[in-house]
Amino acid sequence: MKIEPVSEHVGALVRDIDVRSVDDADVAALVDAWGTYGVLFFQGQTLTPEEHIAFAERFAPIDVNKFFGTVDGYPQIAQVLKEPDQDKNIGGGWHTDHSYDTEPAWGSILLARETPPTGGDTMFASVGAAYDALSDGLKATLAGLKVRHSNRHVFGSTGYSTKANEGRINANDHLLSDAVHPAVVLHPVSGRKLLYINPAFTRGFDGWTDEESAPLLQYLFAHMRQDAFTYRFEWAPGSIAMWDNRSTWHNALNDYQGHRRLMHRITIAGTALAGVAV
Ligand code: SIN
Repeated sequence: MKIEPVSEHVGALVRDIDVRSVDDADVAALVDAWGTYGVLFFQGQTLTPEEHIAFAERFAPIDVNKFFGTVDGYPQIAQVLKEPDQDKNIGGGWHTDHSYDTEPAWGSILLARETPPTGGDTMFASVGAAYDALSDGLKATLAGLKVRHSNRHVFGSTGYSTKANEGRINANDHLLSDAVHPAVVLHPVSGRKLLYINPAFTRGFDGWTDEESAPLLQYLFAHMRQDAFTYRFEWAPGSIAMWDNRSTWHNALNDYQGHRRLMHRITIAGTALAGVAV
């Protein structure tokens, strides 16, 4: 197995591997690389749904998504689908998965099943590199802050994603949730400091109103999505991206109108996140 970085701050391509037959040493090396690079890419992996599940379970138990439609017969696998006659995509816009949970998911393992002839790439960003580039003064301010996250405005019955992706996102209002996490968290494997906010699910700073929070959040989001911190991944059927939801953001580009794109996503469980010492 060879692991080669693909950009300055985020992502590495894993070569010479068949993810169906990884051993314990391979898994340990992948966990280490995942902590370092934030997202690992694989090409040419022909997996059955059972093999996709088995690969994910090498890392952690599966954290079943409460809102996405699932693959027939496989409730553990969320379906990320856009049909040729649908104009909105699932996962468009910068976000990280499950930050609205008190124990946010470790990572997501997305396998491309059908890709459009062109487009449908996914952008990734390093929230560790974005944190590092802040001034010492702003880092000190953020160290003392906690942040409110929620999925109500996204996946509730009137949520924007539920409405935009009708039939693909289930409005399970009884499963909606909120969580509070430190603004700056320590990565559970690498110990790196990470700016743990995202435009989709972050609502405001704990103890601040949404209106008071918005200017600082908007400043930070604009800082975090600078090209310098990002990488753009081009898919083919059999490609896998496994991203760490603590240390990266992702954004599925919606530039393939009139074509089908089908991805299978398995998300794996994480732990509660510790903040930095103040
Ligand atoms: C997602 O946000 O999970 C979907 C990403 C993608 O389809 O590229």
